[in-house]
Amino acid sequence: MRILVVGSGGREHALCWTIAASPLCEELYCAPGNAGIAQDAVCVPVGAEDLDGLIALARDKRIDYVVVGPEGPLVAGLVDRLAEAGIKAFGPSAAAAALEGSKGFMKDLCAKYGIPTAGYRRFTEAAAAKAYLRAQGVPIVVKADGLAAGKGVTVATTLAEAEAAVEAAMEGDAFGAAGSELVIEEFLEGEEASFFALVDGETALPLATAQDHKRVGDGDTGPNTGGMGAYSPAPVLTEARCQEVMERIILPTVRGMKAEGRPYKGVLYAGLMVTPAEVKLLEYNVRFGDPECQVLMMRLMSDLLPALIATTDGVLSSFDLRWYDEAALVVVMAAKGYPGAYEKGSAIRGLGDAAQNDDVMVFHAGTKAGLENEILANGGRVLGVTAIAPAIAEAQARAYRAVDRIDWPEGFCRRDIGWRALGKTGG
Ligand code: AMP
Ligand code: GLY
Repeated sequence: MRILVVGSGGREHALCWTIAASPLCEELYCAPGNAGIAQDAVCVPVGAEDLDGLIALARDKRIDYVVVGPEGPLVAGLVDRLAEAGIKAFGPSAAAAALEGSKGFMKDLCAKYGIPTAGYRRFTEAAAAKAYLRAQGVPIVVKADGLAAGKGVTVATTLAEAEAAVEAAMEGDAFGAAGSELVIEEFLEGEEASFFALVDGETALPLATAQDHKRVGDGDTGPNTGGMGAYSPAPVLTEARCQEVMERIILPTVRGMKAEGRPYKGVLYAGLMVTPAEVKLLEYNVRFGDPECQVLMMRLMSDLLPALIATTDGVLSSFDLRWYDEAALVVVMAAKGYPGAYEKGSAIRGLGDAAQNDDVMVFHAGTKAGLENEILANGGRVLGVTAIAPAIAEAQARAYRAVDRIDWPEGFCRRDIGWRALGKTGG
């Protein structure tokens, strides 16, 4: 098969690395890709948001199957457009991608189908939103309805902060159209974890669990980022908890989406809040997580590609995937300054040295090749140094040993990825 992967981050490098190893894959393209992906796929400079360009590329290269990495093109309808062009693709339709594209839609679906989530209300007027804030008190959570590149959520501990978030979104236009509607919801306490499942419209096949590290600094301090590291599995999601997530969250969602005439096909990524009493849904994403995908792909024993195709074809019920029992952990190396302003173009050395062993893989995110094929930083999150080992403590040690072999003075990483899991398992 001739496969095209859409995207350019660490997630897409992990997907390309995995798909390239599939016996079903004859030719692999990635648009636009990065310097690491170029080792596994032919990179073509078409942006992930350029729907017309992607359709033309898929036609030109006679692509049999497209795998869409990021949420932007999914919410914009890339999979629908490809279907119209007669090209099969992995990922939800625009109507189904509303689970991530509109937080209000997601919350209404939860309310209608009894899926446990934080109590909420939707607003289109700043005055009504503020009156609600005053009536509810703090802590409270203010969310822009649409896609806001991970910046649309404010967990407010003072009323002033909550009101400022409403004003920034609705009056200041901080998120453009994404902020013209808001969801205000109850603050939930607990431990966050992620659960991934493949969904083919009717059936859900659980994949694995993971935990991300959203804050930029050690000890979960500083501003939010796209994710500074992750590990899988998440010890907090025990087998009993995973069963609860399937029965109370994932399966009712699959049935609800079908009943709404928006059958969901693709990977469903549930962001969860785990409390001693129950697991509640914080948010849905309609794609693999980044960097969670990197640890999932390290742990996957089976061939991913047939599972993706079975998802698209609606035949997941006869499908099974095998996983290594081992733990995987990824440390993200970012350009100094990220998630604020950062420089591009610094040289990264020692990558070969870092990934000498089979148990370590350095996935590229924001990289590009220089004139002499040297690797240059080209984004905020730049590398995902990923290791697999029998337990999380060892995976962590392996990942940091590899990080320390990378010579990139302009980069930084958190030094504590995995701390929550290690606290739980006593190291
Ligand atoms: P989201 O983009 O919806 O995942 O939200 C970003 C982050 O905000 C989450 O990872 C949580 O840490 C936090 N968050 C979102 N909703 C809530 C909530 N209802 N209660 C507490 N924290 C939340
Ligand atoms: N790592 C969080 C996300 O992919 O949304």
